[in-house]
Amino acid sequence: MGDPGRTMRRVDAVVGLTARLAVRSGRRRRPAPAVDRDLRLTVAEVRAEAPDVVGLTLAGPGPLPAWRPGAHLDLVLPSGLVRQYSLCGDPLRRSEYRIAVRRVGAGSTEVHGLRAGDPVTVRGPRNAFPFVAAERYLFLAGGIGITPLAAMARAATTDWRLVHVGRDRASLPLSSGLDPARVSLRPDNEHGGPASAGELLEGWTPGTAVYCCGPPPMIDVVRRAMLAGHPFHAERFSPPPIRGGRPFVLDVDGVAVPVPADRSALDAVLTVRPEVPYSCRQGFCGTCHVPLLAGETEHDTAGPGRIALCVARAAGESVRIGL
Ligand SMILES: Cc1cc2nc3c(=O)[nH]c(=O)nc-3n(C[C@H](O)[C@H](O)[C@H](O)COP(=O)(O)OP(=O)(O)OC[C@H]3O[C@@H](n4cnc5c(N)ncnc54)[C@H](O)[C@@H]3O)c2cc1C
Ligand code: FES
Repeated sequence: MGDPGRTMRRVDAVVGLTARLAVRSGRRRRPAPAVDRDLRLTVAEVRAEAPDVVGLTLAGPGPLPAWRPGAHLDLVLPSGLVRQYSLCGDPLRRSEYRIAVRRVGAGSTEVHGLRAGDPVTVRGPRNAFPFVAAERYLFLAGGIGITPLAAMARAATTDWRLVHVGRDRASLPLSSGLDPARVSLRPDNEHGGPASAGELLEGWTPGTAVYCCGPPPMIDVVRRAMLAGHPFHAERFSPPPIRGGRPFVLDVDGVAVPVPADRSALDAVLTVRPEVPYSCRQGFCGTCHVPLLAGETEHDTAGPGRIALCVARAAGESVRIGL
């Protein structure tokens, strides 16, 4: 029997060389499609990254499926909740996945309860935020939005700068592992409030790809300030605000549930059936897809005869769904 640790180090080295060559070649890659396989992993390490952020290292019995910066996992929690978490470690280390999770609600609180040695199931990795070759990069991270950007900064083979904003220094995890000369921390409480678009984009020049991950107002302010035609890439961790929505009624097993103009069908269903499962709340994971029994929808991602409760709206006054 060979030494398994040595075998993994060899795998990491070969994978590393291939991945570096791919980045240098500047090839633009298509995002990875959704991956449905379940991987049974073990929590190898738990770290406190900030007062409300825990870092987990997940390890498997052998080399794990490859990923590229911007990818995330679906983490299936012991309660059955499924939540997405961006991979923030080194893609060249095929023996482990690293994630960092801020405590917000039920799912993330459960993640904070995991301990070294606990088994977990993950699906993926899936990439909806692909990292493409550019002359230079400006990474704009809001709070825990640093996770995909930390992996990108580590993988960048051209010039880059990262601005990390948050309410205070304690809310800025993970940037300490990156080249400090390229990282600017900007806590709101030391600057009298949130950063303006001008501050965030300071020093930006044409040819610089801007990658932004943070709260929706931060993404919106940068998107509006970017010059049209220049590369801007953003990922959000929470649902997009509903703009121009019309109210409608959901018929849930004969019960009429009103959906206000500014709320999703999922929000409305959860008021009467709090156990209905959801995950990404952005239309891509499929967890909230249920049968559409009558009526038509718009903005839907679920396919014929189904409705994605988190994003779809009725095309008319009402729709009937089956739960
Ligand atoms: C592609 C993707 C990648 C993600 N990567 C990460 C990551 O690396 N680290 C991480 O901590 N989270 C990440 N998230 C968010 C994560 O999947 C969960 O949504 C988050 O942990 C909250 O789940 P919960 O069950 O704790 O809260 P829930 O019970 O689902 O929500 C509780 C309340 O908090 C609000 N809320 C949910 N998320 C946020 C948020 N981020 N900020 C403010 N309010 C929020 C909800 O609207 C709700 O009102 C990612 C999400 C996506 C879609
Ligand atoms: S919760 Fe993911 S598609 Fe609706």
